[in-house]
Amino acid sequence: MECFTVEGGTTLRGDVQVSGAKNAALPILAATLLVEGEVVLEGVPDLRDIRTMLKLLRELGCACERDPDGTIRIEVTDESKRVAPYDIVKQMRASFCVLGPLLAKRGEARVSMPGGCNLGVRPVDLHLKGLRALGARLDFDGGYVSGRGPLRGEEIFLAGSFGSTVLGTANVMMAAVLAKGRTIIEGSACEPEVADLARFLVACGARIEGIGSHRLVIDGVERLQGTTWRVICDRMEAGTLMAAAVITRGDVMVRGADAGSMGAVIEAVRALGAGVERSKDGIRVIAQDRPRPLDMTTLPYPGFPTDLQAPFVSVLSVADGMSVVTEKIYPERIMHVAELNRMGGEVRKQGPSQIIHGVPSLNGAEVMASDLRGGAALVLAGLAARGTTKIHRVYHLDRGYQRLEEKLCSLGARIQRIEGE
Ligand code: EPU
Repeated sequence: MECFTVEGGTTLRGDVQVSGAKNAALPILAATLLVEGEVVLEGVPDLRDIRTMLKLLRELGCACERDPDGTIRIEVTDESKRVAPYDIVKQMRASFCVLGPLLAKRGEARVSMPGGCNLGVRPVDLHLKGLRALGARLDFDGGYVSGRGPLRGEEIFLAGSFGSTVLGTANVMMAAVLAKGRTIIEGSACEPEVADLARFLVACGARIEGIGSHRLVIDGVERLQGTTWRVICDRMEAGTLMAAAVITRGDVMVRGADAGSMGAVIEAVRALGAGVERSKDGIRVIAQDRPRPLDMTTLPYPGFPTDLQAPFVSVLSVADGMSVVTEKIYPERIMHVAELNRMGGEVRKQGPSQIIHGVPSLNGAEVMASDLRGGAALVLAGLAARGTTKIHRVYHLDRGYQRLEEKLCSLGARIQRIEGE
């Protein structure tokens, strides 16, 4: 298994380009199951999760090709396949998003139920509630959900006790675009990635109003046709690079970052004491001093995103004072805490909050990534630590960051990918 060694103490400077958004590309790939004719997707990042989704689409009768420039061409060639197997769904929960499209287009589906993950239990009850409301008959056996159409439009309230659901909204919206009649999804997620999926569907011929809001109105159409689509830039990668600039007291231009969808992150970076310049080309972060402490809470969009919680905890672990970070989406998303503390951090969990006593500096250590964003948090901690940090299990990082170490090294970081145990 590959590891990173990170030599701490460098200051990041320069320009770096953000890749396309994983969390926009994954549901858009699932949506290609709904489409007749070829779909051409540009700007899809080259990530393990994307390769997993392509494997699933091939299993479901799609011809998928990736050009050398990263463009992906997909066409459904065999609609007789209806099973999303456990082997693939267990690797990546976003695979569950093929359920809605399969029910809508092929009339039936059998999809492995995803289990829990390192972020906690992660139920899919809202996905199932929404699909049932559209008329899907669902049965459960052997760890699978089997469903049958036909689907028809309905009014659905889709939010749960933790707020709206991103992939649940995607799943139900994808089912509704081919359902007969009008569907209204109240309490839908309004994350930019959900909006990108909706706009892609509209480009294929779907009729969706209220895109980017908590109320989607969808009028079912007979069919969708192929299109060419460029996925939006990855705001989580952009936010991670911004945090890297702050923790190394650097000066980094994050090209492609969309300031319009990153208000809460920009606000947090400013509150940490760094300068932020927004332009049409991206976001520049200029940090000179030790970060200031900060209290913050993760929330659904447009609030501060849970996916940047762990990287920002790393930054706050070296802040000049005490911070409180409250996780409202995944209260168990704290796998980075024990590892940060092995590096000399002073982070304590209390309920859904982390109480962080900033220390003047962290010390390099051997640590283990246990999930994607927790892994990114350890890379940032390593950049700021004294000495060398060895991060095991970097395959977690490769699920969602396209060659993060190369991007950071282009800014002056000293990170090596090596073979390890
Ligand atoms: N929830 C339910 N029932 C459901 C679905 C969700 O109770 O049926 C709860 C969840 O347990 C959580 C909250 O609702 O407490 C929100 O979860 P959501 O469904 O929005 O998460 P998701 O759609 O499964 C996506 C991203 C995650 C990101 C979350 C929150 C993708 C592929 N994944 O997951 O990204 O953390 O939204 O923004 O889009 C990551 O990229 O590292 C990652 C984990």
